[in-house]
Amino acid sequence: MTTVNGYEQSDREQKLDILNLPALEADAKKIIPVGGFGYIAGGSEDNWTLAENTKAFEHAQIVPKALSNIENPDLSTSIFGIDLKTPVMMAPTAAQGLAHAKGEVDTAKGVAAAGALMAQSTYSSTSIADTAAAAPGAPQFFQLYMSKDWDFNYSLLDEAKKAGVKAILLTVDATVDGYRESDIINNFSFPIPMANLTKFSEGDGKGKGIGEIYASAAQKISEDDVRRIAEYTDLPVIVKGIESPEDALRAIGAGAAGIYVSNHGGRQLNGGPASFDVLPAIAKAVNKQVPIIFDSGVRRGSHVFKALASGADLVAFGRPAIYGLALGGAAGVQSVFEHIGHELAITMQLAGTKTIEDVKNAPLTHFHY
Ligand SMILES: Cc1cc2nc3c(=O)[nH]c(=O)nc-3n(C[C@H](O)[C@H](O)[C@H](O)COP(=O)(O)O)c2cc1C
Repeated sequence: MTTVNGYEQSDREQKLDILNLPALEADAKKIIPVGGFGYIAGGSEDNWTLAENTKAFEHAQIVPKALSNIENPDLSTSIFGIDLKTPVMMAPTAAQGLAHAKGEVDTAKGVAAAGALMAQSTYSSTSIADTAAAAPGAPQFFQLYMSKDWDFNYSLLDEAKKAGVKAILLTVDATVDGYRESDIINNFSFPIPMANLTKFSEGDGKGKGIGEIYASAAQKISEDDVRRIAEYTDLPVIVKGIESPEDALRAIGAGAAGIYVSNHGGRQLNGGPASFDVLPAIAKAVNKQVPIIFDSGVRRGSHVFKALASGADLVAFGRPAIYGLALGGAAGVQSVFEHIGHELAITMQLAGTKTIEDVKNAPLTHFHY
């Protein structure tokens, strides 16, 4: 353990023997301090949307195809011209120093070792440049929380570009923080500074709660803001936090080069639908004009399959990777990605799908059990 400002960070570095991703949570809870764990695991209000996110994958079923004469499914794919070994991506998640002393630097290494795509959060514990340098040549995206201060927005976009990131994820579903009860119960404030905020006039985030941090972020975001960011940067801008066809079309109209369907892992609007339930209608409206990334509640290879078969081009998760980070550092993160890849490969074979393109075209049934 490493202790920073009284907060005990894991410094484990080891491969993990994983039965399944949901089982990681209980193990991680034993080593992440209460406040940090509550911030990571929690959703908003009574966690209804958080729970529905994973349950909703039961609303669709994969059609088994036994006589398809395939073996050794190929998980590789590409998006925005980036070749990846797996369609599973690391979602941008804040403050990974809560889980491990090396924070995002270790996550970036583990994600790269698995051949996956890494996304950095604005509120990372390590800086854009350091996280990028941790995995030279490996693809990364940068997630922007828009500040009210445009000079700050532009400086982050410039830094991201300089560090070689391949796209910007502009998160639009967090103009105020969701009502997160675990943070209230634990009286949680961030014990570790947020590296990208250190040059910001509002301070580096240390000692602040998530509500205070979001208060310096933009409290309202319009299509004009999306357009302004898309016009400023020459990187593709993917709008994250889309849960309706209308918002998807608005974002594309404002210059979005991609849509990221997500309800923030049930941490923002509680009472909203499971992200998986809204994916098909959004994919239909987007009609392949731009790629779609999907997250919220993904825990199984079969979930990844179902999301791809429902219109996603890439599928992300947050919490399981953070738990892998706490339990095993870079090697732990790698193990998490490899495990879900293993489950996905089995699913693909049993569904008679050889490639990710086949998965995207695979039929699903919708019986209600
Ligand atoms: C601890 C934590 C921090 C997060 N921080 C961010 C963030 O900084 N920016 C962002 O766009 N999304 C953030 N998210 C949301 C994730 O990008 C993603 O949408 C979510 O984790 C997906 O749900 P899952 O954890 O059930 O897989 C965060 C999620 C968690 C769990």
